[in-house]
Amino acid sequence: MVPKAWTVHNVDGDRRVIVTKELPGNRWLDILTAAGCRVEVCTSEDVLTVDEIKEQMGDSCDGVIGQLTEDWNASLFGALAAAGGTAYSNFAVGYNNVDVAGATAAGIPVGNTPGVLTETTAEMAVALTFSAGRRIAEADRFMRGGRYHGWLPAMFMGTRFVGATVGVIGAGRIGAAYGRMMVEGHKMNLVYYDLYPNETLEKYVADYSTFLVAHGEEPVTATRAETVEELLAVADVVSVHTVLDESTHHLINAETLAVMKPDAILVNSSRGPVIDEDALVAHCRANPEFAAGLDVFEDEPAMKEGLADLDNVVIVPHIASATKWTREGMATLAAANVAGILQGYPLWESDDVLPFLAGDVPRAVPSIVNSAELENE
Ligand code: DGY
Repeated sequence: MVPKAWTVHNVDGDRRVIVTKELPGNRWLDILTAAGCRVEVCTSEDVLTVDEIKEQMGDSCDGVIGQLTEDWNASLFGALAAAGGTAYSNFAVGYNNVDVAGATAAGIPVGNTPGVLTETTAEMAVALTFSAGRRIAEADRFMRGGRYHGWLPAMFMGTRFVGATVGVIGAGRIGAAYGRMMVEGHKMNLVYYDLYPNETLEKYVADYSTFLVAHGEEPVTATRAETVEELLAVADVVSVHTVLDESTHHLINAETLAVMKPDAILVNSSRGPVIDEDALVAHCRANPEFAAGLDVFEDEPAMKEGLADLDNVVIVPHIASATKWTREGMATLAAANVAGILQGYPLWESDDVLPFLAGDVPRAVPSIVNSAELENE
């Protein structure tokens, strides 16, 4: 194992915080420094292994900001607790890389970064939808390949979105934002699948429909599907926004793909393993009219064999949250999670995390996913 390089900020800080990747902006570092932390940042782009993180923590570490690419298992949380650590935050809203039960057993709060990725991630899902449906990446390759020899009536025909049906699997913050963007922007009908009804989303679409009708246009609808299959059968576009857990692993597979319209569009900006990628490759090969837009991959960063050869698939490297505002906001929230716990602050009691992004940082911890479990320990 080649030792990784680390830089140290606020060398004399009396709390030791490890940050496993360089983070954007400076606000996060200011927050940790103001909390009296010595901050050690790994400058390598390689994913750190459990052993490398343990080695860096040594026998004295107060807190860590980690990455979604790392395996935060029970043994790692045990090592953090044994080193005197009391705080962990993922630099992500998703935390399928974290053994939350293991963290809770070790008495470690697990932070995440909700509220700053919502629109940014939904916008990327919209971008992938249109790239796939209007064949933008494929047409771009065509142009760059010098193959455009003049306008033709049937060249690169794609999907018409207005009035079509958009399906959202997982209508939480990001899924609902995507649904609103597609409905409002393109007058699409919405069908969503979620364990819980999203009444706010349904009312939003109903109010928008009233507005459309008042302007002499066709109404739009929002319907909650009873099953994923029911949604897949009717939707022209399907965007996946679920968490990854045992119940959603390979939710989209050969059987469920077969239920979809042959010319549907499938978008995934949640987590790769929600889709059986081998099955998707086979489906896209067999159905050239079908299209997919993927931000995430089953064996990330690798792609399943054949995926990159398919013209009807648009692929980007897990960048749905990659805007300066969002990534700096994520860094700020992760730092405020760790610094807030180390300073004994209470949990922030609102979903609105914007107060953490500018001005004086609230004396609170923005988001801890296992706070209820820790209270019951
Ligand atoms: C997250 O925060 O979970 C995202 O996947 C990062 O883009």
